[in-house]
Amino acid sequence: MTKRTLTERLSEIVGAAFAAEGLDPALGAVRVSDRPDLAQFQCNGALAAARQAKANPRAIAEAVAARLREEGAFAAVEIAGPGFLNLVLADARLAEAALADGWQAGEAEKMIVDYGGPNVAKPLHVGHLRAALIGESIKRILRAAGHDAVGDIHLGDWGLQMGQLITELERERPDLPYWDESFEGPYPKESPVTVDDLARLYPQASKACKIEKGETDQDKIEAARARLGEAQAATVALQEGRPGYRAVWRHFVDVSLPVLRQDYDELGVGFELWRGEASVHDRIEGLVARLGERGVLEDSEGARVVTVARESDKKEIPPLLMIKSNGSVGYGSTDLATLDQRAEEGYQRCLYVVDKRQGEHFEQVFRAAERLGLYDADHMEFCGFGTMNGKDGKPFKTRAGGVLRLRDLIDMVTDKARERLAEGGVGEGYEEDEREAIAKLVGMAALKFADLSNPRTTDYIFDLDRFVAFEGKTGPYLLYAVVRIDSVLAKAGSDGGEAKLVLTEPAERDLALALANLPDALKAAHDRRMPHVLCEQAYGVAQAFSRFYASCRIGDEADAEKRASRLVLSRVTRDQLRGILDLLGIEVPARM
Ligand code: ARG
Repeated sequence: MTKRTLTERLSEIVGAAFAAEGLDPALGAVRVSDRPDLAQFQCNGALAAARQAKANPRAIAEAVAARLREEGAFAAVEIAGPGFLNLVLADARLAEAALADGWQAGEAEKMIVDYGGPNVAKPLHVGHLRAALIGESIKRILRAAGHDAVGDIHLGDWGLQMGQLITELERERPDLPYWDESFEGPYPKESPVTVDDLARLYPQASKACKIEKGETDQDKIEAARARLGEAQAATVALQEGRPGYRAVWRHFVDVSLPVLRQDYDELGVGFELWRGEASVHDRIEGLVARLGERGVLEDSEGARVVTVARESDKKEIPPLLMIKSNGSVGYGSTDLATLDQRAEEGYQRCLYVVDKRQGEHFEQVFRAAERLGLYDADHMEFCGFGTMNGKDGKPFKTRAGGVLRLRDLIDMVTDKARERLAEGGVGEGYEEDEREAIAKLVGMAALKFADLSNPRTTDYIFDLDRFVAFEGKTGPYLLYAVVRIDSVLAKAGSDGGEAKLVLTEPAERDLALALANLPDALKAAHDRRMPHVLCEQAYGVAQAFSRFYASCRIGDEADAEKRASRLVLSRVTRDQLRGILDLLGIEVPARM
């Protein structure tokens, strides 16, 4: 494990040469070359140095280059154009760097990643999928960097949808004891509903409460308003602790949890904490009191709010709603209370992996938390993500125009993977069970890689055929690369062991260079909370391996030293790919 990446170490070497010339060592910043055909690395510091010192950039570059040629880390130091330094690493250095296996952050922190947010009684949909995949990967990246990071599902279990469910069930089953305020208990242990009931009741309730766009029928409008009013009143009563409502609410949550667990399990996504919005309810009163003491709570038409706007704001940031005028608490209050809980439990940093369209909500919550002194702005991070769109560029919908359920999506990709595998004759001789297991893993890899390989903040288009292809920047391509190397090593009967890396062919150097970039990629993915950087790294390595495989003999190389070195190179490639896929949450089949 290294704390310094290759470009950081090279920057130090080149920085020392600048310093020896009486210049700022920061000018020695080295990065991967824009022109890989000319050099592996470059440093543009001589130009900036010349501007500062009003000197000739080429002369500075010459002086620095002369020192670097003495130093020994580089096989070639050349000057291009007005004073760019082009650098090629010495083979021994490159070989050493290719074996670097990880990267550690300077300071480890205790962190919490909030990347669930599924709602009780509503099936998981595509939006929750992105949160789950990106969040899981970010959590793994943080852990690999040495942090103590845990994930919290932050279940949506305390909003209006609960009141809607309660009132809907009450209409359907007036016979149940939960609605009778004089009932003395005990309430039945058995749940009055199944998950399927919930999945039916919620859309029913939500439809009944909704005034259709352009609706002119006054009776219908009145009816919807009345239903919404009922649901809101039930939400307030639930939150205030009406025993029958709390009891039936418990059942709603309890029947939903196993199904959610199963869905997340299938995705390979695991939360350490399974808390919900409701779990912080009892904190809210104290929180409101503290906000009051600090003088940041205001009345606004019967509601209590925290003003969070700032003079420097370019657009208006509305106040955070703490208590609604009907007395209920909402999304903002539970998120603020959750930050209060997390601060109290010693989490130093909180990350939120949520649809970027919720950015303003988190801005309000974070600012309120700052005003309350819970966290400073640097320790609350909104890691927003873009939308998965259909080919029409609009958020992905099913043929029927509905939101795509996660289950159906997983089935779709698995079917596609199965088809693709059959076409390619993959796993022909295997048992049916194994073929099916491979199809599942390939489908999942396709979906995850497609999602994660886009910069988190951008939208992308759902294109199943492209995701499942075995060529190009896809999950299946990477799985195949790993499995192929496994079989190369198995056939050779050796993984090279402790053999020394000797780089002689250009394709070997290119592969070594791609491998050596791992710590830089890990650091960038970590610092920017951007898993796609690791997708790029894995793809670059896999491609470099393909070229190496096409131009160098490996297991059947006659020269024993070269053979062993190439087996090591293959093994290191496989291990790096496996390691990255694991950070992306992608599981590799034993064979394909
Ligand atoms: N339940 C919310 C939704 O489905 C997402 C929750 C995001 N996380 C949070 N801490 N607010 O839109």
